[in-house]
Amino acid sequence: MSTGGTFEGRVAVVTGGASGIGRATVLRLLDDGASVVSADFNAASGEALVEEVASSGSGTEKRLRFVRSDVSVEADVEAAVATAVDEFGRLDIMVNNAGVGGAFGPVENIEVDDWDWTFGVLVRGVFLGVKHASRVFKRQGDGGAIVNTASVAGLRAGAGPLAYSTAKAGVINLTRAAALELAEARIRVNAVCPGGINTPLLNYGNPDAVGQFLDQLQPWPEHGRPEDVAAAICFLASDDARFITGEALVVDGGLTISGGTSLPGARGGRRGGPGALLPEGASGVSKGSTGEEPVIRSAG
Ligand code: NAI
Repeated sequence: MSTGGTFEGRVAVVTGGASGIGRATVLRLLDDGASVVSADFNAASGEALVEEVASSGSGTEKRLRFVRSDVSVEADVEAAVATAVDEFGRLDIMVNNAGVGGAFGPVENIEVDDWDWTFGVLVRGVFLGVKHASRVFKRQGDGGAIVNTASVAGLRAGAGPLAYSTAKAGVINLTRAAALELAEARIRVNAVCPGGINTPLLNYGNPDAVGQFLDQLQPWPEHGRPEDVAAAICFLASDDARFITGEALVVDGGLTISGGTSLPGARGGRRGGPGALLPEGASGVSKGSTGEEPVIRSAG
């Protein structure tokens, strides 16, 4: 749903732009007039989106670039931001959205490398996006908007594996601390906290089955869609949110206010791999929609 030209002349970078919430955000920003750099680890789905936009007849493909990028690697994030400036002349909006399920399993079995990898994507990735976008915003001298995708899992326990939940809590306070520091430069920093959203991260390619489960998860009678979160991200990125900074906006159909149902397997993080619940005690690391296989270790 376009609001018609809200972002005319604006330039955005969206990490994790190839799938789910990031993909919906890329499409919404394009519809609303922005030029967009979609930065994603998964080159196949990233390039597929560019082709889809090109064949849609919308004519918006001239305002879209894809760059293959690992948000945990500083040079990649810097390059994604530089692409916006080189191709479209400036940067106005940075959406740090890339994410994975990450390390899962009973806490006593989580490998340190899996923990660090999870934080590399979910926390270092957001830090690097804030860092390099801020450099450009300060050089331009006319402010900017940063939106980070956190999660309701960062607000409470039971809504995601332990490492994921801890990392997302970090994203929420990184948002607040950065908002405080950057306000003077008119750089707004906000976060969204999605609840259960039917994306490949949760549905592993089976949106109908997971959708039926997610319909029951929160007080609102239908499950959340990527477009619902994209709308909140675009609001926070827009001039309508001029006086909003340091906010973590919950987009969860009432899940949090209801006390919330625990996602199946969240206790002990058993929902870390593709498909059905993993065997009791299994641990490993889920690499989400990156195209990389999860690591699954049996208990004991
Ligand atoms: P998704 O799996 O559909 O999309 C995530 C995208 O991030 C994928 O295209 C993936 O390739 C990319 N990505 C992963 N690691 C990357 C890396 N190192 N560098 C660059 N790109 C990378 O997932 P979804 O659901 O759209 O997730 C988007 C964000 O929303 C994530 O931060 C996730 O944690 C968060 N979130 C999702 C919820 C849900 O219910 N789906 C709930 C709360 C938060």
